[in-house]
Amino acid sequence: MRARGRGSRRRGTGGQRHPSGSGYNRKDSYYRRAKQEGYRSRAAYKLLEVAERYKLIRRGCRVLDLGCWPGGWLQVAAQLAGPDGTVVGIDLREAEPIAGTTILQGDVTDDEVVAKLRDAVRGGVYDVVLSDLSPKLSGVRFTDEARAGELNQIALSVAEAVLEPGGALLMKTFMSGETEDLLRRARELFASVRLTAVDASRKGSAEHYLIARDRRPAT
Ligand SMILES: C[S@@+](CC[C@H](N)C(=O)[O-])C[C@H]1O[C@@H](n2cnc3c(N)ncnc32)[C@H](O)[C@@H]1O
Repeated sequence: MRARGRGSRRRGTGGQRHPSGSGYNRKDSYYRRAKQEGYRSRAAYKLLEVAERYKLIRRGCRVLDLGCWPGGWLQVAAQLAGPDGTVVGIDLREAEPIAGTTILQGDVTDDEVVAKLRDAVRGGVYDVVLSDLSPKLSGVRFTDEARAGELNQIALSVAEAVLEPGGALLMKTFMSGETEDLLRRARELFASVRLTAVDASRKGSAEHYLIARDRRPAT
């Protein structure tokens, strides 16, 4: 499909472009490594990198993964949380089961999703929420950035509803005009908020990770 107009992007044959507009070679070294090491996505290395750097997922943690298909982050979360942890994922797409995880199929924008996510975990709350949510891309940069921004806001709302006080959120985001607003809202909810880039992101990507820790108690 050819998209036209200012700011539009055309998809390559090897994969989608991100709202950041950066192109990529789908079969890069992380992609090949993921195949060799049995991870379902190259994205697994992004979570490994951030989780290791910030000690985000501890043994026994209750972890929720928003936008989990095909399951690379779920695999990493299950490894880090260990057999005493709980790992729940949700995606629009149906993912193949992964040992030690519960996978739900659903839409995070659905009003009833929070209740379903709470029902899936002991105590009804999580210690860590992960979001790698990405919209289905239209190829029009402005539209794709706006949709990605909406998903970020929804991830923040879900985290607000399901995180234990003291809990943490890790969320993929693309630097855009909406980033400041996202950071402001995150700072209202968490005592510590920062943005970081990861080596495993594709070269030239505007992709960053928001790490928000120490969820403030609900007022
Ligand atoms: C980049 S992929 C996630 C990759 C995953 N973290 C992994 O490591 O395998 C983004 C996912 O977000 C999901 N997604 C987008 N909008 C969604 C929504 N409204 N509800 C649930 N999932 C959604 C997409 O279906 C897609 O599978």
